[in-house]
Amino acid sequence: MSQPSRVLHPGLQQKITTADAAAALIRHGDHVGMSGFTGAGYPKVVPGALARHIEAAHAAGQPFRVGVWTGASTAPELDGALAQAQGIEMRLPYQSDATCRQRINAGEMEYLDIHLSHVAQLVWFGFLGKLDVAVVEVSGILEDGRLIPASSVGNNKTWLEQADRVILEVNSWHPAELEGMHDIYYGTERPPHRLPIPMTAAGDRIGEPYLHVDLDKVVAVVETHLPDRNSAFAPPDAVSERIAEHILDFLSHEVKRGRLPANLLPLQSGVGNTANAVLAGLDRGGWRDLSAYTEVLQDGMLAMLKSGTLAQASATALSLSPEGMQEFLAHLPFYRERIVLRPQEISNHPELIRRLGIIAMNGMIEADLYGNVNSTHVMGTRIMNGIGGSGDFARNAYLSIFMTASTAKSGRISCIVPMASHVDHTEHDVQVIVTEQGLADLRGLSPRARARVVVDRCAHPDFRPALQDYIERAEAAGRRGQGGLHTPHLLAEALSWHERYERTGSMRA
Ligand code: COA
Repeated sequence: MSQPSRVLHPGLQQKITTADAAAALIRHGDHVGMSGFTGAGYPKVVPGALARHIEAAHAAGQPFRVGVWTGASTAPELDGALAQAQGIEMRLPYQSDATCRQRINAGEMEYLDIHLSHVAQLVWFGFLGKLDVAVVEVSGILEDGRLIPASSVGNNKTWLEQADRVILEVNSWHPAELEGMHDIYYGTERPPHRLPIPMTAAGDRIGEPYLHVDLDKVVAVVETHLPDRNSAFAPPDAVSERIAEHILDFLSHEVKRGRLPANLLPLQSGVGNTANAVLAGLDRGGWRDLSAYTEVLQDGMLAMLKSGTLAQASATALSLSPEGMQEFLAHLPFYRERIVLRPQEISNHPELIRRLGIIAMNGMIEADLYGNVNSTHVMGTRIMNGIGGSGDFARNAYLSIFMTASTAKSGRISCIVPMASHVDHTEHDVQVIVTEQGLADLRGLSPRARARVVVDRCAHPDFRPALQDYIERAEAAGRRGQGGLHTPHLLAEALSWHERYERTGSMRA
């Protein structure tokens, strides 16, 4: 390997081996905790080698499947390869891989979709069973054995602590200057010994820059020099731009009304092009000295840090496009002062989200009249990705905003429906719904008032009359004593829009 070795600990140098040899240490039935969050910091070569071993075992008629636990989504080299090999028994807590999705929806792979802040503690409580192996990518190992994390932290602290056997991938593709950017907090205890987490501002550092591992548990070290997934972003389309404009107008209005400070409150933004369009709008709009307390740091936030719109950003992963990565590398000392990468149990911690007063902005699949939001299931039965951190933020945020285009699949689906076909975020956790049509501010409104605002402001004009008609007929039924008038519904009809789509390929009557 042409790069100078980043493995400086003499004992661990003795454990350097090949991906094949390392993968051979993983056995059928193991629970494997892998690093990786939104295409950043996932192991690049051991999962592929494991997939080949699994295929060989299957070819020889032997069973070989493992549980795969991660931070969040990874990349084709991990999720794609293992799902393709039919090697995953149970996947948790989040995925966004096409092959995984297909396997899960075909019933060939189990999937546990979990709030991202919950994962570490569920493992600590023993609720998910024993973690057998950790496969964690790091960007270097110091002489004393401390680990320099890579481009994501995710659940790595927990995997290293809880696994019986540890495999480290040391990837010299990650810039050496990442050292010092991470903040690993070692103060989370199990109840009844929990203490307040000592953080009062998004940029606070409360831990240390390194991960620790019991060196005796390290069974293999594999050196790599391979890039993260680094997906390119499409430029924002007209729909994303319109959604962003509505959100920006709303935030300005809230500042004028004295309900938000002039530099807002820390921003959380889901991944994707709409999120990037909102960030670009904030960057153009003369906002200064904002902060971000979020899960994933995308290109939009780099631009905001550079321009001074954003003063500080806290996340658990960097998810940059190739151009974003070039910008990051070219000005790394500047960004290292302004970015903190934390374990996901801290980046998504309800205590901190509530204390800091986060403005949460997340994408959704559909919302219903009363503000219940579906983030995960297409037509109520097929998983898309998973809830990710959206629930951690939505329930505990100062302001909880959900956004979507008003229609999907070339206008054949209305994303505003009578009844959500699956509910991830209940009406109690959703304050604002936004589509390119407009913004519905649901704060302080009763269910019946919410229904009218959601339809008038957010529904596409092609579906608005049918939704208004549904509301009127549901209320009329309630007045006739057929159901209540608090949250009126025509129960036999409520999901007929989804049923019609499954039958005809369109929700249109
Ligand atoms: N019914 C059926 N399909 C729908 C739909 C609906 N109401 N709304 C969107 N879709 C489909 C789109 O057609 C698209 O399908 P395709 O991939 O086959 O083209 C896909 O869902 C993604 O939609 P898109 O409009 O590109 O939205 P997005 O990239 O903003 O993603 C979510 C939306 C909900 C899938 C995404 O935000 C998500 O996974 N959220 C949950 C996790 C989360 O919030 N994470 C951030 C927390 S920090």
